[in-house]
Formats: sequence, structure tokens, C-alpha cells
Amino acid sequence: MQLAIIGSGYVGLVTGACFAHLGHDVVCVDSDPAKIATLEAGGVPFYEPGLDTLVRTNVREGRLRFGMDARAATEWAEIVFLCVPTPPLPDGSADLKAIEAVADAIAPALGHGAPKLVVEKSTVPVRTGDWLARLFRERAPEADFDVASNPEFLREGSAIHDFLHADRVVLGVDAERASNKLVALYAPLNAPILVTDLRSAELIKHASNAFLAMKISFINAVGRVCELAGADVSKVAKGIGLDARIGEAFLKAGAGYGGACFPKDVAAFSAIASELGYDFGLLAEVARINDQQRDLVVEKIRQLVGGSARGKRIGVLGLAFKPNTDDLRGAPALDVIERLLAEGAEVLAHDPVARPEGPAGLRQVDTPELAGQGADALVLMTEWPLYEALDWPAMKARMRRAALVDARNVFSPAKMARLGFAYASIGRP
Ligand code: UGA
Repeated sequence: MQLAIIGSGYVGLVTGACFAHLGHDVVCVDSDPAKIATLEAGGVPFYEPGLDTLVRTNVREGRLRFGMDARAATEWAEIVFLCVPTPPLPDGSADLKAIEAVADAIAPALGHGAPKLVVEKSTVPVRTGDWLARLFRERAPEADFDVASNPEFLREGSAIHDFLHADRVVLGVDAERASNKLVALYAPLNAPILVTDLRSAELIKHASNAFLAMKISFINAVGRVCELAGADVSKVAKGIGLDARIGEAFLKAGAGYGGACFPKDVAAFSAIASELGYDFGLLAEVARINDQQRDLVVEKIRQLVGGSARGKRIGVLGLAFKPNTDDLRGAPALDVIERLLAEGAEVLAHDPVARPEGPAGLRQVDTPELAGQGADALVLMTEWPLYEALDWPAMKARMRRAALVDARNVFSPAKMARLGFAYASIGRP
């Protein structure tokens, strides 16, 4: 099939490259000339394991190309995927400006050739599909088209695997011909396909991310109780997770969730619920608990360095919001660093791939050892495997004081105590 992907960011590029890999003809469009230039030169504008090879192979084999003209791509395509960002507005609701701009640009192309199918892949509030269809009908009254919702469930760092080995494919459609096209498109994945109405599919995306965020905040709150009671949150998580109705996934206590999705989607889901007339207070609590985890990490650092971080040298291991990505959006590490700098600490940070531009005063170093050099404490913020494999006795020798806050519960407290570290983790004695 001929597929146009509008928006070549994280979701768009992974989607485009994977559909090309499945044998479709794909054009990935973006309005940013620098991004298109990078892609045409064989590069990928962000770090995602395996994506550069997948993109280059499919370009070489003639199934994947790039462009800047959304209207021309829509005229050419049978199916058009909207993959543009929907960032949060100050009140938490989703900003649909980019979707609207694309809709304006492609509307004149909808009457061109066979009926077009426009698919929302960006995360949007429920009823965006109805609004899009109305907008298209106004702008292109003669055109024969369908609008569908096909939310993505890719995790950064394993996006290609998640696409090609999906747990499920959700298709929200209001017309049978749209459903037939999308079911045929996804059939080769052999994944369970759930066909729903458009609004339910939109809601599935927000509800999925909000539920996962809720699991993380739940276990972090349990971790607070564990600390007060002298229990171990990792054992509690194991014990409750073995109940198949609960499940072990997303019950890792730590510095809390970050990234471009959970914080934004929890806020946007809450905003659309209240716009529709329901006060989804649970979601505000999920976000509040998540924010508190960052304070908790700072408090643990303070405790290990004698009450205040002022004048202390703190080494930070890991900046990205999780391993295997260079994404710093919503990264707990950046919040913790800002608080430490504001308190008057000297902060040296290492990450194997992420390179933030700030905050001002942060010193980025090229090796974990340099982050520990002369430090009063280290804090592990992202569980990159290389940190677990470090020579910790040698690290201890480099530090001014052997103190470690393990904000991702990577190490065994007994092992770190044996090595002579003053050690704190999250929700464990
Ligand atoms: C998330 C969802 O997992 C995807 O299904 C979804 O498609 C994506 O958002 C999206 O909406 O685009 P992602 O943000 O890449 O994917 O990252 P996750 O692996 O879900 O992790 C999110 C955050 O939760 C990370 O900061 C991670 O460290 C944290 N986390 C995760 C925990 O603190 N504890 C856990 O047990 C699991």
C-alpha cells in the first residue's frame, strides 16, 4: 500500500520504517527542513536502537523516502497517518495546533483519486476524530474520506520490537471500509486486533498510559509506607504482582515516571475528563505522588551528606528518563539536579547518550568515574546497565565519601553495605 506518514518524529519515523520493512511504499513527511536533511543524509535525528539501520535499509531498497509536502504526500497515498506532536498546554490539555495545521494542509488533497483514509496516531483526546472529520468536511465538501484512530503503544528504546511484536493493535473506525484497510495493513503482524468505534480507541490510549502511570505511583506510595514500616517494596511488588489480576510489570518503585508520554497523557486525560464533566481526581493524585518521588530522592541525598547539599559535590549517574534512549523530556534526573544546584551543590553528571543543554551550572562528564571523582555522594537516576557493571570498589576509592543514593533500586543493599557504602534506595530498608 502507499502510505504517507505526516510528522517524522519518534512515532512517525518508527511507524514509517516498520511499515516499509513490511513491504509498503512509505513517504515520511516533516515540516522541519533540518530533520529531513538528516534523514536524507542517512541519519536519524534521535537515538533509538536499530532504527538507523532499518531506515537506511528501506531507503536503499526503495520503499522509504522523505519529503516536506504533506499535501502532495496525501494525494499520492491511500492511507495517511497523522503523527505530529500534541504537547500539553499550560492547563494540561492537549495542544492540537499541529494536527489542525496538517488537517488544513492535506484537506485539499482528500478528493484526489481513490477515497483516502486519515488515521490519527498522535495521542489525542477523545472526540478529536469527530472534530477532524468535521474540519475535513468543511474544507473539502466534495471529498470521499474516512477518519480512524490507531493509537501507538511503542516504548522508547524498544519501539521497533514493540511495533513488530505488538501485544495488540487497536483500530477505531466508524466505517467498514476503513476497518478492512487497516486490518489488512496490520494482518502480517499476527497480533490480536481490536476493532472499536473511533472514540473508544482514542480513550484506550489515554486510559492505557494513565493506568500504567497509576501502577507506578501506587507502588511508589507503597514504598513510602514500606520505609516507615521497615518493609521492602521490591518484595511487596513481587508478592502482589504474582496475582495474575495485578501483574508484575510497572511495579518498580524509584524516582518515578518521566518521558514525553505519561506526564503529558495523565494531565491531558484529566483535562478532557473534566471538560466532559467528570472530575477524575485519581489522576491528579497519580501526578502528585510522582512529583513527590523527586523530592524524596533529593531528601535522601541530603541525609547521606549530612543534612544539606550546599557546598557538596554530587555525581549523577544517568540523565535520560529511562535507559536506551537519549530522551530527556520529563526526566526525573533534571529535576533532581535543578534542586541540588539551587541548594548550592556542585553537580557532575554522566549519561552514555543523553546530552542536555542545561540546567545552567551542571557539569557533564564523559565517564561515570569522572562523576564520582572527589564526590560526597553519587545518585543513580537512570538504570543504564553500565552503572551496575562498574568497578564499585574502585569508584569508592575515587570518592571523597562513599555514599550512594540508588533511585532505581538497582543494587542489593547488603552488597553495597559490604563494599562500605552509605547506601539509600527507594522503599527498601
Ligand atoms: C510509554 C508506554 O509504555 C508506551 O506503551 C506508550 O506507547 C508510550 O508511553 C507513548 O505513549 O508514546 P515510554 O514513555 O517510552 O512508553 O516509557 P516506559 O517504558 O513506559 O517508561 C515510562 C517511565 O516510567 C520511565 O521514566 C520509567 O523509568 C518509569 N517506570 C516504568 C517506573 O518508574 N517504574 C516501572 O515499573 C516502569
